[in-house]
Amino acid sequence: MSENPTRRDFVLSTAAALPLVRTALPRGAAGAWRAAPALLLKPASSPCVVASANGIRGVAKAMDLIANHGADTLDAAIEAVKIEELDPDDPYVGYGGFPNAAGVVQLDAACMHGPTRRAGAVGALEGIKTPSEVARCVMKYTDEIFLVGKGAQDFAVQFGFKIENLLTEKAREAWLHWRANLNPHDDYRDVPDSQPMVVQPHGTINCSAVNANGDISSVTTTSGAAWKVPGRVGDSPIIGAGLYVDNDAGAAGSTGLGERNMMACGSYVAVEAMRRGMSPTDACLEALRRAVAMSPPDTLAPDGRPKWDLNYYALSKKGEFGSAAMYPGFQFAVNDSHGPRLADAAALYPSRPAGA
Ligand code: GLY
Repeated sequence: MSENPTRRDFVLSTAAALPLVRTALPRGAAGAWRAAPALLLKPASSPCVVASANGIRGVAKAMDLIANHGADTLDAAIEAVKIEELDPDDPYVGYGGFPNAAGVVQLDAACMHGPTRRAGAVGALEGIKTPSEVARCVMKYTDEIFLVGKGAQDFAVQFGFKIENLLTEKAREAWLHWRANLNPHDDYRDVPDSQPMVVQPHGTINCSAVNANGDISSVTTTSGAAWKVPGRVGDSPIIGAGLYVDNDAGAAGSTGLGERNMMACGSYVAVEAMRRGMSPTDACLEALRRAVAMSPPDTLAPDGRPKWDLNYYALSKKGEFGSAAMYPGFQFAVNDSHGPRLADAAALYPSRPAGA
């Protein structure tokens, strides 16, 4: 074939690789090749589910639903993240999530469904254990995409969700501890060093899935930054930041410091990179580079390395997957024909700056 193949060259070479396609191609009245139906040229896809490491139980569940029960990829991904949303011992997601500075748990979530090109999201949602399911209701039952605060809660109640107390004793104690140590001049007694607050400030779950048809979906859900300013909405429910799906290219999602990701629209960057031919891992690294480039200088060390963490997870239409973090030692969850497992993410930098 020449270096600049005509459509006919392309169709013939594709047909040689796929005999069924060759025989199915129609001819026009004058014998010219018509454009092959898109369906016939669709690349083969291998079912795959990829998630942040806290989704290790979820990727097993999602793959079972897709492979053995024919579940839709979004329904499967939502069942995956609900495991964490409903787990009172996961302090970063759903029920049991760490509260904001006022001691109130406010949850963010979003979902995207590749085949129907629809999305739904909720922000600062109080009292509902599974915001991912509320986001799916917004997607399925309205022409809108993003509901926040009381409006999102009222909407959830209309669909049968129950308002419950999401603040577990464990999360409340951690919040009281944070408040006690806030600063030496506040009205609270400091808590002695013998009782240090050892919690991590962030934790979110993203899960993306593709089935054998190449249909892709993604969901991200979080309780957001612990002790955040009341009303703060992070990157997780922002389409293009916390997640992005294009059924022709792939899906990407993010965990880590949402403010840095929002400035980069990193999940969109990763999906567009895959569309241009990058591997999922390289696409995640590209999104990280964009996030660093878009960060305020005072959040970076003098040599340009970030003092914060951000992570991306990506899945191509074919079922290839990858993940990247700022620094080594980060893992993610995946489930494909080799079964559910944790894998090492690529790192943008070989080491952290001092003190980060
Ligand atoms: N990435 C989660 C958040 O910043 O809220």
